[in-house]
Amino acid sequence: MPIHLLYTSISGNTHSFIEKLTAYAETQGRVTFTPIEVSDATPDIIEDAPFFVFVPTYLDGGNGIDNGVFEILTDCLREQLEIPENQQHLLGIIGSGNKNFNAQYILTARRYALQFNVPLIANYELRGTPTDVERVYNAIQQRLEEIK
Ligand SMILES: Cc1cc2nc3c(=O)[nH]c(=O)nc-3n(C[C@H](O)[C@H](O)[C@H](O)COP(=O)(O)O)c2cc1C
Repeated sequence: MPIHLLYTSISGNTHSFIEKLTAYAETQGRVTFTPIEVSDATPDIIEDAPFFVFVPTYLDGGNGIDNGVFEILTDCLREQLEIPENQQHLLGIIGSGNKNFNAQYILTARRYALQFNVPLIANYELRGTPTDVERVYNAIQQRLEEIK
């Protein structure tokens, strides 16, 4: 059964990474992925099988450390994860961002991992490299093995 990858993408980087990851998975012949893009217009999604979440970070003010966190644009994904059924099946978070943001790098993904008590299994910058695609694929594969 294909594994759902829930994600949101404002400027297209996450979308691009997910496309590459899905294509790579097809070449590996082990697990297949079904990407599901979430936006503010997406109705509630109820997952009934293990799935993963990909989230970039967008902070607008606040550094996430000592003067608050003002997350913008990714709330639609958080709202889907707050649906109790989905928390039962969420297996891991993959965070993306830009290391220029230093301590704020992938902060939203780190906050999701804490809020939903799931592991942050991998991270990558921007659209990711082919090495990132392979690394994230392996992290997902390993997580799926763990729950067998
Ligand atoms: C306004 C703005 C704020 C951002 N804040 C952060 C941040 O706090 N931490 C981080 O790691 N990346 C930050 N980024 C980088 C994005 O997370 C990164 O570009 C990501 O790849 C965007 O994904 P998307 O194109 O799928 O929307 C920010 C980007 C923008 C435009």
